[in-house]
Amino acid sequence: MARIVVHTAKRPFVHKTPSGDSVHICMCGLSSNYPLCDGSHRMTTDEDDNTIYLYNSEKKRLVKFDLDQLRKV
Ligand code: FES
Repeated sequence: MARIVVHTAKRPFVHKTPSGDSVHICMCGLSSNYPLCDGSHRMTTDEDDNTIYLYNSEKKRLVKFDLDQLRKV
């Protein structure tokens, strides 16, 4: 079984612990250390907001889909 999950965030969520530490939670879905951020979100900086990008497990961008085209299907 396979599943597609869409992540739109391009940066982590920063949680401040009661002791004052910062924990960076991956919101882009590309981290190799999920659920913690490993900096892989930097790969998303050139992503267009109106496009869906498909990555493989090696974080290689395979294909992109134009949302306007998909809405017409
Ligand atoms: S937010 Fe996903 S790797 Fe940083």
